[in-house]
Amino acid sequence: MTRRESPDAIADRAIVVDGLVKRYGELAAVAGITFSVPRGTVFGLLGRNGAGKTTTLECCIGIGRPTAGSVRVLGLDPTRRRELSDLRPRIGVQLQATSLPEKANVREVLELYAAYYGIASRAEEMSERVGLDGKLDRQIAQMSGGEQQRLALALALQHDPEVLFLDEPTAGMDAFGRRILWGEVERLRDGGKTIVLTTHYIEEAERLSDRICIIQRGRIVAEAAPAELVARYGGDATVSIAAEGFAPDATLGALGVWTQAGAGWKLATRGEPGLALAAVVTHANTLGAKIVSLDMHRPTLEDAFIAITGETIEETG
Ligand SMILES: Nc1ncnc2c1ncn2[C@@H]1O[C@H](COP(=O)(O)OP(=O)(O)O)[C@@H](O)[C@H]1O
Ligand SMILES: [Mg+2]
Repeated sequence: MTRRESPDAIADRAIVVDGLVKRYGELAAVAGITFSVPRGTVFGLLGRNGAGKTTTLECCIGIGRPTAGSVRVLGLDPTRRRELSDLRPRIGVQLQATSLPEKANVREVLELYAAYYGIASRAEEMSERVGLDGKLDRQIAQMSGGEQQRLALALALQHDPEVLFLDEPTAGMDAFGRRILWGEVERLRDGGKTIVLTTHYIEEAERLSDRICIIQRGRIVAEAAPAELVARYGGDATVSIAAEGFAPDATLGALGVWTQAGAGWKLATRGEPGLALAAVVTHANTLGAKIVSLDMHRPTLEDAFIAITGETIEETG
């Protein structure tokens, strides 16, 4: 894992986190995390609540000092005051809980942030991008949680930063908000931005991330492209059939491993399960078997997550 990379390879990394540790007293919230993010890609940190995602992100944006290890964002060290002030205008941050001034309205908050970054306000354009057009005069206190989160996204984007940090950006959002945010992330990635996203929604990580890093109890337990995680850890596809008078023949036997339980048969296959399913049905019909139930399961990122971590992503699981 501690493979040395050439300076060129490091130069096209927007973010390099090396051996990051963050302790809170006895607790190692982050217990030695190493990853890097190529420019122009979306990197997803996926894990349960309490895994250490927010803490990792905070260390990247200069909130909270690492106990050990190092972080570089655009080549700058966020623990150094001067480098952090160079970095600030080049990054955008949407935190899990952004506290916005209750009495201000949407336009005023966008103007306030524009002034902070020393740019002209783009209130109209930004509000439209996050689906808050027509709500520029709405007071923060009168907005739903989801609307406030969309405003927080607009605030992270208004100064057109090179790197975006989004912490559980859709937690508590409705379907409309989620669609807007997902669309915006895809558009930003297409525009060459680098994005680090934390989430405990498997679907969100899978849909948006070029690479996913699974974090468990402060450590990285797997890192790869979503499809690669599924292929490597998701296990076999299965086809299950319960049918009177059915038994696999040699041709079906060649598709994978069959197990029998009562009248039910289950095939575990590495091949394309849709084709296996078709072959199973054809064979059952040839035998004149009466199909009682039929099911196909293609491995998912959730299967991979469970195989890797030994737990479901929801704590109740
Ligand atoms: N300021 C803090 N003081 C003490 N413990 C903290 C603090 N912030 C986070 N933690 C603990 O660190 C662990 C990781 O938290 P966090 O990074 O917020 O996880 P995640 O974002 O993955 O849900 C949790 O056990 C959390 O309770
Ligand atoms: Mg968090």
